[in-house]
Amino acid sequence: MDLRQKYLEFFKERNHKIISGASLIPENDPSVLFTTAGMHPLVPYLLGQKHPSGNRLTDVQKCIRTGDIEEVGDSTHHTFFEMMGNWSLGDYFKEESIALSWEFLTSEKYLNLDKNRIAISVFAGDDDAPFDDESYNIWKKIFESEGLPIERIAKLPKKNNWWPPVGETGPCGPDTEIFYWSDNKKETPSSFNDDNDSWVEIWNNVFMEYNKEKDGSYSMLEQKNVDTGLGLERISAVLNGLDDNYLGKFFINLISKIEELSSLNYKEVDIEKKKSIRIIADHIKAAVMIIGDPKGIAPSNTDQGYVVRRLIRRAIRYGKQIGINKELWLEDIVKIVISDYKDVYEEVEKNQNFIILNFNKEQEKFEKTIEKGIEKIEKLKLDYDKELKDFNLDASTLFDLYQSYGFPLELSFEEINRIRVENGGEDIPEDLKYNCLKEFDSELKKHQEMSRTASAGKFKGGLSDDSEETVKLHTTAHLLLAALRKVLGQHVEQKGSNINSERLRFDFSHSEKMTKEEIKEVEDLVNETISK
Ligand code: SER
Repeated sequence: MDLRQKYLEFFKERNHKIISGASLIPENDPSVLFTTAGMHPLVPYLLGQKHPSGNRLTDVQKCIRTGDIEEVGDSTHHTFFEMMGNWSLGDYFKEESIALSWEFLTSEKYLNLDKNRIAISVFAGDDDAPFDDESYNIWKKIFESEGLPIERIAKLPKKNNWWPPVGETGPCGPDTEIFYWSDNKKETPSSFNDDNDSWVEIWNNVFMEYNKEKDGSYSMLEQKNVDTGLGLERISAVLNGLDDNYLGKFFINLISKIEELSSLNYKEVDIEKKKSIRIIADHIKAAVMIIGDPKGIAPSNTDQGYVVRRLIRRAIRYGKQIGINKELWLEDIVKIVISDYKDVYEEVEKNQNFIILNFNKEQEKFEKTIEKGIEKIEKLKLDYDKELKDFNLDASTLFDLYQSYGFPLELSFEEINRIRVENGGEDIPEDLKYNCLKEFDSELKKHQEMSRTASAGKFKGGLSDDSEETVKLHTTAHLLLAALRKVLGQHVEQKGSNINSERLRFDFSHSEKMTKEEIKEVEDLVNETISK
């Protein structure tokens, strides 16, 4: 039986209602771009609103986490993943939640995992909330009755064992995490060690009994909730005795295709190449899921669209690094994602034309960007007045390539090295590169100072949408800030902005709601300046 189905059935038999997972794009929540966890769409119910399906729920939620996009490439972290979850909205609490998880994982009828490879962590307590001794004692009882070492139950701080609110405020609480020893060659250690990657976190049971307030303090929630999340890709790998999720069924078809396109063997390549292959698979899958979501998002320079653009462009860059040179090769992998997921998420099949079209458009666009950048570097090479084996570009030229052409910095260095090596030199020395990066960074900061808008922050990827409309609205953002300061006072600070060719959004600080008169005054000032 499909693992998702098995999970849902288990909880259904234990009086949970199966609900459908939500879109990857959160409903009415400007604080985050994507649905990052199963609890995310359930926040109002965790805060006490009645859920139409009752107070014991279960589902499978597709999630996107972009926080550590740079860290993708290890064997267990993914941008897109699926989370199986069960919830108690003010119904059962720690005892039953832990018992349910333990039964599902270890009973013969369900996953039948080796109990001797399981470890636990619980919240150790701090100034905000006490040690979660209740969870600790529940686990201790289970471990004692099973004859397992108590040292495999660790007490860890907030950084490990506290689930934070989705935005700045909201429901949160201590959690207890369940780990599985994934190394088939080494005996399970007798104690848990957070630093050892062979302990893979598979399930997180959060006990949401707190609310984080605006002033940073924690108050008790009236309703005590349970929110659990069992990562599908990880548990599936564990069940198949794999220590690498990319060898499991949710990735292996993608990996095979990348092997074919690059003529590499995933299992045999060095760790750097392995990482590149993983990143390509991870990023393409995530972008397919976002573009193919019922709320379909195309690559762009703002919000979710910008993330899609970054994912696709990173995949292309890593593809180049491992020698993939087939034209529009992303499409080959995209089609596999669609066929792997169409039975579970029918939207990816329904939207397949839209997905493929956007991938191809983006790839063509980015390839052109790269071509233009390389042409520019070739010109600079001709003007270079020292020996080409020492070829180098100063930080402001690199910045110009990045800012005006959208040419990624890493590619500039690759081109520089290529030219040096072709002319009998060696790769650019690390210290020179380091200095250059530092200067580049300060150029970037200077530029950001000059155009203090959040969208300029996003433009720093050098992907600026330089359509006339966008440029106009960007200028308007400056006029708007000046006008707001004139009307409301010099305390007004820009807190962010978001610009695309259709509209300008501008966030700023002011202690009161603006009156109609003030709004009109600001509008008039901006319009006057424009007509001048
Ligand atoms: N919110 C927790 C997590 O995402 C448990 O579901 O890990």
